[in-house]
Amino acid sequence: MNIVLIGFMGAGKSKIGRLLAKKIGWTHVDTDDNLFKRTGKPAGVYLREAGEKQFRKLERDVIAEVSALDKTVISTGGGVPLNDDNMADLKRNGTVVWLKASPEIILGRLGDIKTRPLIDPKDPVNSVRERLSARVPFYEKADHIIDTDNIDGDAVVSKIAILCGLS
Ligand code: S3P
Repeated sequence: MNIVLIGFMGAGKSKIGRLLAKKIGWTHVDTDDNLFKRTGKPAGVYLREAGEKQFRKLERDVIAEVSALDKTVISTGGGVPLNDDNMADLKRNGTVVWLKASPEIILGRLGDIKTRPLIDPKDPVNSVRERLSARVPFYEKADHIIDTDNIDGDAVVSKIAILCGLS
């Protein structure tokens, strides 16, 4: 059994995953880190250089691998739920939680958008808005949804632990 965190870039999946794993004593993996181990490059850099098709292919392999783990908190890259096979694998052995955030909050949390190849630096607000709304139907396939706009990291972690019966 795993806990899988999905959501848009900047939603806090990596940070919350780390905190949650510590709280419940599970292992934490981050799929972007696993991609880094395979390519030697940060996810955004690899995506820009290799193209999205190749990136998604490699990401698919990483998901198949981490889905087989147990007692693991899995922080996923923002595009993972777009692939139905990814979601099927992750759900087979895990509870999927969408860390939901509004475009305004996402932009505030993103920091340097130059490292984000899928966001148009000339119009980041609309770029995030449009990409997020296209992804909502995929993120909605989560088992649980937590609105993170107005609560801090510790509160998000506690909510997930309660929802998953681990608190
Ligand atoms: C992506 C999100 C990134 C990374 C890659 C593609 C996306 O991960 O996997 O740049 O498609 O939303 P984070 O969501 O961890 O930033």
